[in-house]
Amino acid sequence: MPATAAPPARWTSPHLLRLAGLSPEQVRFLLRRTHDMAPHVHAGRRGDALAGRCVGNLFLEDSTRTRVSFTRAAQLLGADVVDLGSSGSSVSKGETLADSARTIAAMGVDAIVVRATAPGAAGIVADSVRCSVINAGDGRHEHPTQGLLDAYTLAEGLGRLDTLDLSGVRVAIVGDVVNSRVARSAIHAMRTLGASLTCVGPPALLPAGMATLGCAVERDLDAAIDAGPDAIMMLRVQFERHKSRGTIASAREYRQFYALTPERAARLPAHALIMHPGPINRGLEIEAAVYDLPRTVIPRQVTNGVAVRMAVLDACLNRGA
Ligand code: NCD
Repeated sequence: MPATAAPPARWTSPHLLRLAGLSPEQVRFLLRRTHDMAPHVHAGRRGDALAGRCVGNLFLEDSTRTRVSFTRAAQLLGADVVDLGSSGSSVSKGETLADSARTIAAMGVDAIVVRATAPGAAGIVADSVRCSVINAGDGRHEHPTQGLLDAYTLAEGLGRLDTLDLSGVRVAIVGDVVNSRVARSAIHAMRTLGASLTCVGPPALLPAGMATLGCAVERDLDAAIDAGPDAIMMLRVQFERHKSRGTIASAREYRQFYALTPERAARLPAHALIMHPGPINRGLEIEAAVYDLPRTVIPRQVTNGVAVRMAVLDACLNRGA
């Protein structure tokens, strides 16, 4: 037997700030815990793994699904949840992120879930407080729980949950990659488990240095589809982040070259999964009829997101327990 390190039996960090740098064993640990949590999501049963603990949502950027998903996850583990948004919070009065985080932590919160526009914001919070910090999306940097839920949904949809080994699996990520923390985290999670990734989009929406992320690049969506990927992940065009950067020429042109239409979906291999992190610009990156195809796993991504967040909250708060 090769002398490799034993897989970690436990998660040892109080935080989850990024997926970059995690080992395959660490990613698999969180995804196995996700699998343990999934039945609780389906049953809607409240457990007690976090009974008596309090999770604070510090969301300084718009979010519906991620905030609700973390809230649901914390509640299913028996925790209390307090919501702290930017409008109406002291961050909008000029208090720094670190000060706000310290104030919240001083109220006896056990974990802070942070969403913010600045890359690295969750790390700043983690450096400022003694409680757990979970990154729920920091600018264009990372969205680790989304990356985990995407990897989990991929493994589930391709029948690989038993091994959590994605060797030989090919995934195309399509659209606004440059602005997407979701893409970055999904790339880290999926590559760590052995998948091959190709990013597809117009040059203005693909970051320079895709090779450093370990991805191939393809400008032609039709060529990417004809290459027969096992999954295609469509990204939302993030118009709110386009202000200072090159944007798409027109919605019509984007649709023509980069929308997943029913015709394009029909050319994918029969087993290929269709994914999207949401929220969707319906009719832009994905057509309404595609959403309803049986191979579209977008609702599974949402459901699995709750189980992933239960796994992460439990791992960070009950480490070593
Ligand atoms: C994403 C986000 O906010 O990073 N959504 C999500 O969390 N499911 C992607 C997006 O906004 O397009």
